[in-house]
Amino acid sequence: MDRVQNLLMDLRDVLRTIRMKAKYALLLVFVVVLVIIEKENKIISKVSDKLNLKQMQQNIFEVNSTDSNIAYSENGSLLSLSELDSAFSQFRKQLANVTLQFGGRNPFVAELPKTPRRHILLMATTRTGSSFVGEFFNQQGNIFYLFEPLWHIERTVSFESIGANAVGSAIVYRDVLQQLLLCDLYILENFISPIPENHLTRFMFRRGSSKSLCEDPVCTPFLKKVFEKYHCKNRRCGPLNMTLAMEACLNKEHIAVKAVRIRQLEFLRTLVEDPRLDMRIIQLVRDPRAVLASRMVAFSGKYESWKKWALEGAAPIHEDEVQKLRGNCENIRLSAELGLRQPEWLRGRYMLIRYEDIARFPLQKAKEMYKFAGITLTPQVEEWITKNTQASQDSNGIYSTQKNSSEQFEKWRFSIPFKLAQVVQDVCEPAMKLFGYKLAGDIETLTNRSISLLEERVNFWVT
Ligand SMILES: *[C@@H]1O[C@H](CO)[C@@H](O)[C@H](O)[C@H]1NC(C)=O
Ligand SMILES: *[C@@H]1O[C@H](CO)[C@@H](O)[C@H](O)[C@H]1NC(C)=O
Ligand SMILES: *[C@@H]1O[C@H](CO)[C@@H](O)[C@H](O)[C@H]1NC(C)=O
Ligand SMILES: *[C@@H]1O[C@H](CO)[C@@H](O)[C@H](O)[C@H]1NC(C)=O
Ligand SMILES: *[C@@H]1O[C@H](CO)[C@@H](O)[C@H](O)[C@H]1NC(C)=O
Ligand SMILES: *[C@@H]1O[C@H](CO)[C@@H](O)[C@H](O)[C@H]1NC(C)=O
Repeated sequence: MDRVQNLLMDLRDVLRTIRMKAKYALLLVFVVVLVIIEKENKIISKVSDKLNLKQMQQNIFEVNSTDSNIAYSENGSLLSLSELDSAFSQFRKQLANVTLQFGGRNPFVAELPKTPRRHILLMATTRTGSSFVGEFFNQQGNIFYLFEPLWHIERTVSFESIGANAVGSAIVYRDVLQQLLLCDLYILENFISPIPENHLTRFMFRRGSSKSLCEDPVCTPFLKKVFEKYHCKNRRCGPLNMTLAMEACLNKEHIAVKAVRIRQLEFLRTLVEDPRLDMRIIQLVRDPRAVLASRMVAFSGKYESWKKWALEGAAPIHEDEVQKLRGNCENIRLSAELGLRQPEWLRGRYMLIRYEDIARFPLQKAKEMYKFAGITLTPQVEEWITKNTQASQDSNGIYSTQKNSSEQFEKWRFSIPFKLAQVVQDVCEPAMKLFGYKLAGDIETLTNRSISLLEERVNFWVT
């Protein structure tokens, strides 16, 4: 038994050293890059300086090239993840041999990673139920889950959402996401406002939505009289120490990130092909009519003109807004079409899922998602899903995830003015066809519960 223990200790030490080295190399790179960037281009706009695409792209390329050079060339002492993996499985075989001699019982095996590290991206758009679906991963103890980290970028860097700037922003989002998936959380500090000092921040967006950021040892003792913009749900913690968070990330077996700001699947190719990542992309879609209805409630100010037009026959909706809706639907459709076409680089790494199916069969769909990710779903998650999809009363928070989901998912049909449903149908028809959302020709169809607006589809995803 001592032999096993010693072997384990040794391995831990080796792993720790490798991790530290890797981490500090990356940190160093980022500090250097940031200094360069800050000096030369003032990329980190403290308030919201408009960014010039050319400058931005240049910086991004700098980041990329510096990063990959260092990660692979440093002294030969920095192991790649796959090397690490194979070292690990080698070790496990040995351990299995040793433990066989002890009658096959191995009390330590539970502590060893069972599957290679997976990097899951839950790719959605706002009001598609992504907070709810994100919980499926947040609730699993061995997954480091981040809720919408890209929010910080949108807040500090202002982009036009069309044309060349859309490309610029997509590149920034993608590259930050890539670093986050590698547990380099320091990258986010450049976009957190106010900028963290000593890697401490009280402004990590929706910290409370990431269990991993609220459990020990990331939850440090609570400091009185310190204002916390976003805090943990069930306990009070001190300001978030990004170094601790990063260590927690590295110590978990897998990582999952929910993001509503990645607009095109195509842009993620760099991540999918990064040998340090084992990506699993889950694209979550929802009936665009339901999305609009939900947005009108959640961001009511933004949709004043839509409401007025639909209900009072006021001036028609601005063409810009219709175009924006069309753009959203088209991005979602193009991404899904690309994913479903399964090009070589995406094979086995893309899954499409409809919110409506999750709402009706939450546990079954959760199992499918975990199977796709190659991770075993724990009883914790099952319990959470059971508890949170059958609640008889729904709480009213707009980001609330606790509701009787099979009852809720069609509520929009009775709240959206038919005229608006028609606009969405006109603009989003190609996407709706692809996902199996039926058009309603009249208000009676829209509001008749016994008429389903959902085509039953067998699983979209194939691996
Ligand atoms: C980033 O680096 C990778 C690997 O070196 C390369 O294939 C890719 O084209 C680079 N991307 C950019 C945007 O420079
Ligand atoms: C490079 O390797 C040498 C010899 O193995 C070692 O002493 C040195 O610390 C390494 N440098 C870095 C930056 O890891
Ligand atoms: C495990 O034990 C078998 C038989 O004793 C031996 O042939 C094999 O090489 C061992 N494997 C490892 C990885 O040590
Ligand atoms: C944050 O955590 C790291 C790692 O434990 C520690 O070294 C550092 O002192 C902490 N920072 C602060 C400001 O407490
Ligand atoms: C949830 O809604 C469904 C569909 O209306 C209903 O059959 C079920 O009884 C509800 N469950 C609870 C716990 O309220
Ligand atoms: C709803 O649709 C069903 C099936 O098409 C139909 O039998 C029923 O009369 C409709 N109800 C109303 C109120 O129109």
